[in-house]
Amino acid sequence: MAAVPAGNVVLVGFMGAGKSVCGRLLARRLGRCFVETDDMIVARDGRPIPEIFRQDGEEGFRRLEAEAVEALRLKSGEVIATGGGLPCREGRMDALRELGTVVWLRGDLAELLARAGRSGARPMLNSRTPAEIEALYRSREPYYARAHLTVDTVGLGIDQVVGRLLATLRDPHAARV
Ligand code: S3P
Repeated sequence: MAAVPAGNVVLVGFMGAGKSVCGRLLARRLGRCFVETDDMIVARDGRPIPEIFRQDGEEGFRRLEAEAVEALRLKSGEVIATGGGLPCREGRMDALRELGTVVWLRGDLAELLARAGRSGARPMLNSRTPAEIEALYRSREPYYARAHLTVDTVGLGIDQVVGRLLATLRDPHAARV
């Protein structure tokens, strides 16, 4: 069986895609370290994400994400989960692709939102209508689509997603969706 590429594995995708939970499990299966950009930001800034949004607005948070991407350049051989909006700025996908193999965890919007709603506070979903959330999702898809690989998560549980991630990383051609 082919080996998983030695460099970082970078997970991108919309809120609720399972980047954190699947990333953590993938890292364990590969014996690699796991890091999340949201955790890096909170650790460095000292405020929880909803408070950063409240006090500094979305732009303030995106500036902290840019710093996190810079800090990621020191990582090698890790599994990195990115915040849902992190790749969706000019130049960000290029920067992520330089870090390693970028994988888009693609999902069905209704499923993503059901999961995103279940865990944690997500300022980007607050006070947006369903139509506005759908527009946000559509506006982000072209960025996510620039990932090296795509894993379709529709209808899958965590273990199945991680299994598919491993298969895709080992043999991108056979498992590409
Ligand atoms: C955001 C997604 C969140 C977090 C922040 C903004 C976004 O991460 O970075 O609330 O803009 O989609 P998750 O994708 O892990 O929920």
